[in-house]
Amino acid sequence: MEIVVSGIRPTGNLHLGNYFGAVRAFVQMQREYDCRFFIADWHSLTTHPHPDNIVRNAYTILAEYLACGLDPEQATIYIQSDVPEVLELYLYLNMNAYLGELERTTSFKEKARQQPDNVNAGLLTYPALMAADILLHKGVKVPVGKDQEQNMEMARKFARRFNTIYGVDYFAEPQSYSLAGKAVKVPGLDGSGKMGKSDGNCIYLMDDEKTISKKVMKAVTDSGPTEPNSEKPDVIQNLFTFMEIVSTPEVYQHFDELYNNCSIRYGDMKKQLAADINAYAAPIRERIAEFSADQDQLRRIARQGAERAREHAAKTIEEVRRIIGFRSGK
Ligand code: TYM
Repeated sequence: MEIVVSGIRPTGNLHLGNYFGAVRAFVQMQREYDCRFFIADWHSLTTHPHPDNIVRNAYTILAEYLACGLDPEQATIYIQSDVPEVLELYLYLNMNAYLGELERTTSFKEKARQQPDNVNAGLLTYPALMAADILLHKGVKVPVGKDQEQNMEMARKFARRFNTIYGVDYFAEPQSYSLAGKAVKVPGLDGSGKMGKSDGNCIYLMDDEKTISKKVMKAVTDSGPTEPNSEKPDVIQNLFTFMEIVSTPEVYQHFDELYNNCSIRYGDMKKQLAADINAYAAPIRERIAEFSADQDQLRRIARQGAERAREHAAKTIEEVRRIIGFRSGK
């Protein structure tokens, strides 16, 4: 069975970008594939050196994963830092990762701009750790949003390079996966390109109905089209892209027609959008509260996930050591 791997950084609650870009695919894939989903707490240290409580944050995401429908009986669900084997693979991949290519990645450049006082080596080698996460399981399919494309390219490059350097055909090149076959980018509703925690424009799965409505009603728009069938400016296109993701095709078409004949009222469109978002979020919200209330259960699930992940990981590390040429005395 094909192996699927993906993770999310626990730098805050899950937002709609995480959900529609990744978690919804996790839930569907767990039925068909051998899935390993983790919480990338080590990755979050690259931007959050002192998370208030890294353990609590990881458990929050775990409760949210479960509330979204991830099933620990079907998928291996674990916390990255519970599986230290990944660090050894990270080290090997780092030995074959070059400064120039790491410095050129967009996310590194972006983060370096955002936190000029903390351009740390972890930030630079972020793609190597991400590749290690995937290759540790010999993952071939990786459900991620559009923003991860460059990291995925790096993962393929590191896999290929390992094979070439050691003259083996060991790692397959992992491919991004999205539900409809098209990478998802959930836009920000503040006129910015994408919804993201560092952009402060997130609608969270945890948000209550009123908060969702408030955030959506604040979305940036313009004064409306004056010519029939005119091209949509970016902020309006964002609103439509959002609707395409969360609403039914009929609803989308309805508002698209109103736009095209210049009779659209953005207030109505936003109300519909808020209602459609809430329809997704409401049942998940309730389940988050339930799962969060039972910390013992969360700990049990994390422990069981880590045990399973470590078994797979140990096998890969043993094989990788052999390929590189380490012969331990053990
Ligand atoms: P992270 O934590 O930033 O985001 C987690 C997942 O959510 C997706 N996502 C989005 N998708 C569409 N539109 C958006 N606005 C949006 N915002 C976030 C991301 O694409 C991602 O799939 N590097 C990863 C974490 C990671 C990982 C891995 C992923 C570490 N190791 C191994 C896959 C495999 C990250 O920072 O995601």
